Amino acid sequence: MKTIDELIAEGVNGKRVFVRADLNVPLSGTTITDDGRIRAVQPTVEKLVAAGARVVVASHLGRPKGAPDPAFSLAPAAARLGELIGADVAFATDTVGESARATVAALGDGEVAVLENLRFNPGETSKEDAERGAFADRLAELADLYVGDGFGAVHRKHASVFDLPARLPHAAGDLIATEVGVLKKLTENVERPYAVVLGGSKVSDKLGVIDHLLERADRILIGGGMAYTFLKAQGHEVGSSLLQEDQIPAVLEYLKRAEDKGVEFVLPVDVVVSEQFPDLKAKGPTEHRTVPADAMPAGFIGLDNGPGTNALYASKLADAATVFWNGPMGVFEHPDYAEGTRAVAQALVDSSGFSVVGGGDSAAAVRTLGFDENAFGHISTGGGASLEYLEGKTLPGLAALED
Ligand code: 3PG
Repeated sequence: MKTIDELIAEGVNGKRVFVRADLNVPLSGTTITDDGRIRAVQPTVEKLVAAGARVVVASHLGRPKGAPDPAFSLAPAAARLGELIGADVAFATDTVGESARATVAALGDGEVAVLENLRFNPGETSKEDAERGAFADRLAELADLYVGDGFGAVHRKHASVFDLPARLPHAAGDLIATEVGVLKKLTENVERPYAVVLGGSKVSDKLGVIDHLLERADRILIGGGMAYTFLKAQGHEVGSSLLQEDQIPAVLEYLKRAEDKGVEFVLPVDVVVSEQFPDLKAKGPTEHRTVPADAMPAGFIGLDNGPGTNALYASKLADAATVFWNGPMGVFEHPDYAEGTRAVAQALVDSSGFSVVGGGDSAAAVRTLGFDENAFGHISTGGGASLEYLEGKTLPGLAALED
C-alpha cells in the first residue's frame, strides 16, 4: 500500500486529489452531534493542502436510497471541515453533475471542496459491477489521484471505495494507515490476556466476529441487547427484552466451544429493567430497577447492565494486556441506562493494557459520555469495518489500495 507521504513525494502540487473519507457523522437535524470522523480525516486533508493539491473530499452519509435527500446532505460536514482546517471549503450540490464539475474546476492549489453525498447516486452502492463502474468512471473525471481514507467504509464494495482506486493512481491516507496498524496489533502476536467486550443490539451482527475470537481471545464479555439471547439460551427468562430466538442454536454452540477451548465467556449477572423503552428525545426520569439476570420479571425489558455486572466486567478487564470493545452495554443515550457503557469505558481508561474502542456507537458513546479520547489506546472510526477486519475478511477498500 502506497502511503500518502510517498504520493506527496511524487508530486501533488496543482493535482486534483480525490479523498474518499468517511464523513458519516451523527446528525440531529443539521447539527453534528459527534464530529470524530471529520477530525479523523483532517490530517490527511491538511497534508494535501500543504503540498498544494486541489483536494476533492467525498463521502457517504446515512443510507439514502440512491437519490438526493436533504436529510442526508453533507453540507454540515463540509462546513465543519472548513472550521477545523481554518479555510473555506467549497461544496458541490451534486456528486458528478454540473455543480461537482464546476466546483472542482474552480479549485486553486491548496484548496478544498466537498462533494454531496455519494449515495445520492445509485451507482455508488450498486451490486452491478457495470453500474458501479460507470459511476466510478465519472468520479475519476474529477481527479488525477486518489487517496483512500474512509476507514469506516472500507468493508463496502462501493464505487468510490472499490472501483475508483482501480482507475486512478492511489495511496492510503494516514487514518487508514493508523487503523490498520492498530488492528494488526489485535490479530498478529496479540498481548495477553486478550479481552473482548461485545455489545449492541443484535447477536446476528456479531456471529462472525465471535466465531473468529473464540480461537484468539482469552475472555469474551457480552452486554447490550445481544446479551438477552445468550441469557435465554442458558434457560433464563428475559421478559420483553430484545431476543433473536433463531440465533439460540448458534449461541449455544459458541458457549460450548468457549468451554472446550478454555475461553472465558462472561454474561451479565444483573440487569437494569423497565416496563417501557425510554423516550430518547425527552430523556426524562424513568421507572426502572435492577434484577438478577436469571430472574427477569415477565413484561420487563432489559436496558442496561446492572452494578454487579459492571463490577464483574471491570474486574475481568483490569489485568487484560489488550482489550477490544465494540457495542454499547445498554441504551446509553438515556441517562438511566448509560451506566453499563460508562463502566466499560472507565475500565478501559483504568486499564494499563492496550485498549481499542471499535467504532460506531461505542466510539460515539465514549465521546458523548465525556471521556477523554486520549485515555484510550485507540478509538476506531469504523464499527463494521473493524469487526470485519477482526473476522479475517478481505475488505474491498483495503484490497483496492494494495496494488
Ligand atoms: C459506518 O457508519 O459504519 C460507516 O460509515 C459505513 O456506513 P454503512 O454501514 O451505511 O455502509
